[in-house]
Amino acid sequence: MAIPLKPVVHLLLFLLFPLSFSVCMANFHSDTGALFCPHHMNVSSDGRQLSLLMDKSCGSGFQSKKAFIFGKFDIRMKLVPGMSAGTVTTFYLNSSLGKWHDEIDFEFLGHTDPSHYILHTNVFVKNVGSREQRIHLWFDPTADFHTYSILWNPHQIIFYVDQVPIRVYKTGATVPFPKQQPMTLYGTIWDGSDWATEGGAIKIDWSKAPFVTYYRDYSVNACVWSGQGQSTKCTKPSPPWMSHTLDAGEWKKLEWVRKNYLIYDYCTDPSRTKPECSVQLAT
Ligand SMILES: *[C@@H]1O[C@H](CO)[C@@H](O)[C@H](O)[C@H]1NC(C)=O
Ligand SMILES: *[C@@H]1O[C@H](CO)[C@@H](O)[C@H](O)[C@H]1NC(C)=O
Repeated sequence: MAIPLKPVVHLLLFLLFPLSFSVCMANFHSDTGALFCPHHMNVSSDGRQLSLLMDKSCGSGFQSKKAFIFGKFDIRMKLVPGMSAGTVTTFYLNSSLGKWHDEIDFEFLGHTDPSHYILHTNVFVKNVGSREQRIHLWFDPTADFHTYSILWNPHQIIFYVDQVPIRVYKTGATVPFPKQQPMTLYGTIWDGSDWATEGGAIKIDWSKAPFVTYYRDYSVNACVWSGQGQSTKCTKPSPPWMSHTLDAGEWKKLEWVRKNYLIYDYCTDPSRTKPECSVQLAT
């Protein structure tokens, strides 16, 4: 495992050297590995689908073999059906190789009824998180596969559900933004009984175990981090996601989500508001 360089060096390397740019439908066999409790992870023979199972003994997780700086990450997921309260299913990027903690998170909080699933998103920069946003979904996420995407470029992070932007986190003078460290991609299921459902009031019902969640069609279009002394620049021409910002149509969709499905936004919580919030919803 590469020893992380100082951020300044990262940035220099980023500017100076060409880096491989991958555009691909990833294969769970060749592109990911088990994170914990590997016997609870199952990959289909063609490598396109992966399942994670949780019972009382443990949950499970996978991680990408490569790390990335900027990219578009898409996956289709079908969540734990029925009584899923207390379970947390995730799809996220984390700077595990870095000096400090950056993270871009999708967390699906189970409930007693699939229509009450909550999609919790968060952004950590330099060890500081507490940038939570929560929405309900406009469909039953346990009935079928839906696409969840993270677009991460030097300007903004956009979280998408079925190509609908549900959240944007933009950079700006007063905004801490993750752009110096590579991130690894993860998917996990774990026991969040302490906090996930109604603030921890509804716990996992182990009599309903095992809880199984499915991931499919994991696709990565990203700049691949190749380790110490290597590069981090994407080849030209620059891929479209690298410069993408929300267009007018996407803003409309984001407004629709916020108007109809938003449950919580740290930026509108009077006890939490930060200076960075003023730039987030300015078009
Ligand atoms: C993995 O898949 C096999 C074959 O479908 C199944 O028998 C087994 O129970 C699965 N294991 C887990 C942990 O999901
Ligand atoms: C993310 O990585 C940090 C190290 O940078 C680690 O301490 C933390 O546990 C990881 N978080 C998750 C949710 O994987």
